[in-house]
Amino acid sequence: MSAGKVYLVGAGPGDPGLLTIRGVELLRSAEVVVYDRLVNPALLEEAPANAQRIFAGKTAGYHSLPQEEINTVLIEHARAGRSVVRLKGGDPFVFGRGGEEAEALAAAGVAFEVVPGVSSAIAVPAYAGIPLTHRRLSSSFAVITGHEACKEGAKIDWSRLASGIDTIVVLMGLKNLPRIAAELIAQGRNRQTPVAVISSGTTAKQRVITGDLGDIAEKCATVEPPAVIIIGEVVSLGTELGWSSLPETAAEAESETRNGKQPANRP
Ligand SMILES: C[S@@+](CC[C@H](N)C(=O)[O-])C[C@H]1O[C@@H](n2cnc3c(N)ncnc32)[C@H](O)[C@@H]1O
Repeated sequence: MSAGKVYLVGAGPGDPGLLTIRGVELLRSAEVVVYDRLVNPALLEEAPANAQRIFAGKTAGYHSLPQEEINTVLIEHARAGRSVVRLKGGDPFVFGRGGEEAEALAAAGVAFEVVPGVSSAIAVPAYAGIPLTHRRLSSSFAVITGHEACKEGAKIDWSRLASGIDTIVVLMGLKNLPRIAAELIAQGRNRQTPVAVISSGTTAKQRVITGDLGDIAEKCATVEPPAVIIIGEVVSLGTELGWSSLPETAAEAESETRNGKQPANRP
């Protein structure tokens, strides 16, 4: 029996065209695919019909495997000599617990390979025409989790972020958006700093809502996850460069603009 291997593959942010060539190659020869909820289901069709497909979930409210169990599934299939693709949303090493899965595989002596993916932190703003850096407007960006923003003892240093980073990209931050905006304003970031909230980015459901630190939380009260939040002057470029957003009708576009939204995406 040949030794199995686990491939930690980044599936990209939603648009199936953003999976890497290496990722497609591995999916086409996979015997087992273990996938997360944010992975586009179209990608699973690349795997052979007889490959075992295991849903790992990873979102509250959905049936999902606990992390320990995911690690065990990966290890057991690899030990049985199989080629296992662990398909993760975006990039496997950006807030996806890919590091923990790699640690578990290394500790178990299982061979693995990491195939980077296009992170939502980069691709979602790009699809909304927002460059994270720009010679005139931003020479630094940080990607942070918003999940911890309200937790006691959270490790995020709001003061350094507010004053030391030009563009702040927040993943998993929708629920805590009011707190995140308030923290940045309290630490000295101008309340007129432009903010964009992009939900279901790079997909046909992409929505872009813009505002500033002072009003974005109110504007986004009904936005559904997943969403990326971008805070910084570069957001203002999205109006001009939003190449993947086309108005459905002039009247709709006008009414959405009045409400602080950019029009729906139609890739
Ligand atoms: C657990 S993190 C995983 C991030 C992933 N590893 C990556 O590199 O994109 C999940 C978060 O990514 C963001 N996200 C992922 N896909 C997205 C999409 N299509 N549109 C907007 N946000 C997305 C959201 O902030 C979501 O809560």
